Amino acid sequence: MIRIGIDYYPEHWERSMWEEDAARMAALGTHVVRIGEFAWSRMEPRDGEFHFDWLDDAIEVLSSHNMKIILGTPTCCPPMWLYQAHPDTLRWERDGKPTDTGIRGHRCLTSPTFRKYAGRIVGEMARRYAGKPEIFAWQLDNELDSNQCTCPACRAAFRSWLKEKYGTLDVLNKAWGNEVWSGEISDWEQIQPLLGRGNCPNWYNPAWLLDYERFCAQSTADFVQFQCDMIRSFDPQAVITTNACFPQHMPDFHREFAPLDVASYDNYPPILLPEDPEEPYSNAFALDFVRGFKRKNFWIMEQLGGPMGCWAPISPAMEPGMLEGYALQAVAHGADLLSFFRWRTSRTGAEMFCHGLLDHNNVPNRRLKELEQLCRRLEKLPGLGDTTVHSQVAMLYSADQEFALKNQEQSKGFAYWTQLRRFHDACMNLGVDLDVIEEHASLEGYKVVIVPTHFITEPEVVARLEDFAGKGGAVVVTCRSGVKDKNGNCILGQELPTLFRNLCGCHVTEYDAIGPAVQNLVVERGGDYKITGWCDLIEPDTAQVLARYQGRFYGGTPAITKNQFGAGTAYYVGTIGERAMYRTLLIEIFRGNDIPHMLLPQGVESSSRVGEDGRYQFFFNNTVHGQNLRLDGQKVHLQPFEMRILTPQGTWA
Ligand code: GLA
Ligand code: ZN
Repeated sequence: MIRIGIDYYPEHWERSMWEEDAARMAALGTHVVRIGEFAWSRMEPRDGEFHFDWLDDAIEVLSSHNMKIILGTPTCCPPMWLYQAHPDTLRWERDGKPTDTGIRGHRCLTSPTFRKYAGRIVGEMARRYAGKPEIFAWQLDNELDSNQCTCPACRAAFRSWLKEKYGTLDVLNKAWGNEVWSGEISDWEQIQPLLGRGNCPNWYNPAWLLDYERFCAQSTADFVQFQCDMIRSFDPQAVITTNACFPQHMPDFHREFAPLDVASYDNYPPILLPEDPEEPYSNAFALDFVRGFKRKNFWIMEQLGGPMGCWAPISPAMEPGMLEGYALQAVAHGADLLSFFRWRTSRTGAEMFCHGLLDHNNVPNRRLKELEQLCRRLEKLPGLGDTTVHSQVAMLYSADQEFALKNQEQSKGFAYWTQLRRFHDACMNLGVDLDVIEEHASLEGYKVVIVPTHFITEPEVVARLEDFAGKGGAVVVTCRSGVKDKNGNCILGQELPTLFRNLCGCHVTEYDAIGPAVQNLVVERGGDYKITGWCDLIEPDTAQVLARYQGRFYGGTPAITKNQFGAGTAYYVGTIGERAMYRTLLIEIFRGNDIPHMLLPQGVESSSRVGEDGRYQFFFNNTVHGQNLRLDGQKVHLQPFEMRILTPQGTWA
């Protein structure tokens, strides 16, 4: 069964409203409520003085309506008294100064004082609620980002982390290449987190930055482990998650989620679709990405329930069908539980216009009706919860690539996610399921592995890709792969794509970092496509040419190649293309590798979940226009944001 839930903040409402709220939630057909994640000052109003009676009460009221509880640990919002008594719990910004209090999330996850207090409140909660049948799961903190803090504790911890990693300063100096600009470090105390001072942060040493990013992400992962251990020490059976989002400072999700039972994500797909037809906006990418954190089905801890309005002015109203359609899109990609943000729009605080399901008027509305319809629809599909996504195509991702490419833009506008998203977008549009997996994950069971910009290159990863292709798989490698070693320094004395050259059967003689300029490329077997961002000028060794550049001084030079490698193939894509280019390329690859696919109108996506009963195939119209499909000769119409589900019995649900 797929569970539907509600994010609820009992501490925001008079006690007298809880009963009616719970009854209304249950009547809609929801099963789960997430509570608690910001309520530290209510749980511990003064140092060491714990008040859980109100929480017990809320849990009782909600449970009496058969709602299961997801209990949030409140460590995202330490109370004011803690900051006042212990300023060393504060996160310090990149300018080397403590951040302002009064908002949220402003705590240093490394600070020993913060750890002490966070550990105590989490421990108190775990002791009180361990083993209680009402508690379905725990959510740790809220939307954790990478702990990019520059406080004294973090400085010291960064140095210890480096000592552990490199042992001596000699080794560290070599690894970072500190001979440049007299950067050689002669005392550990000289090492700082890199601050955003000076007029050009891009002048920092990328190798130093890369280790700093790894360290910050590790401290977030350590904090997750710390809370997890605390809860499990009281309740070994506890089911624990944390709600991911994609913040400015990205954590290393695969490390962060390793000790957790299930991955979850806060899913806010766009209310206003972009006008630029080239922008792949579908949140399906995020969903497949999150499924890859633990390589299994996941949960949504916050699902779009109303017009946004906090960080930005109030967004437009949600289109009819959007609430239900976006929720089912998450289900289609492996969500087994979706909790909607939030029950009622807050009356107070910064998010008073960040809309929940209910408006301030508290009367039933269009969004609530859609939620009810969603619940009814899912009730008719009880088998869906026992299915998972089975993909034949994988795409590699890693935090290292994310960090290194963020800190050193390869050409103006060149972003790691652009290619990830475009390949993914083409797969959705061809009705082909795709897993986004960490670069060290097993490749077993896949037919095609896409490797966009594998910038930081480890011989071991390349060797596994060679093995995969050698045994018959297809590998797709793209520009700026093989550029750097694990330390973040350039690989010397080999033509690009260096370690990938053998696999791809080609090399790059020169590159053109064209940035936002737009050029053309011609595919040998037909088709003219716009390209931008980057152009590798390719010379095949053993590869065959699939596409050539047009224009500039290298018109006619190969841009995309295909190489026979053992029993398989390796493609090299030297540029970044428009959406249609990826579609054309993937059609060729899917045909060559027996991967069933279909041609859908742009903006329509298809994906599937498979179980013992068979396959549920989802067709989602992720556009504001009606769309017509032809499936096995049958005409199918989709309203804007409509999801239609073809069941294993061949009926539409
Ligand atoms: C995030 C947070 C929520 C809320 C929403 C509003 O996802 O986790 O607490 O602030 O954004 O959009
Ligand atoms: Zn810190």
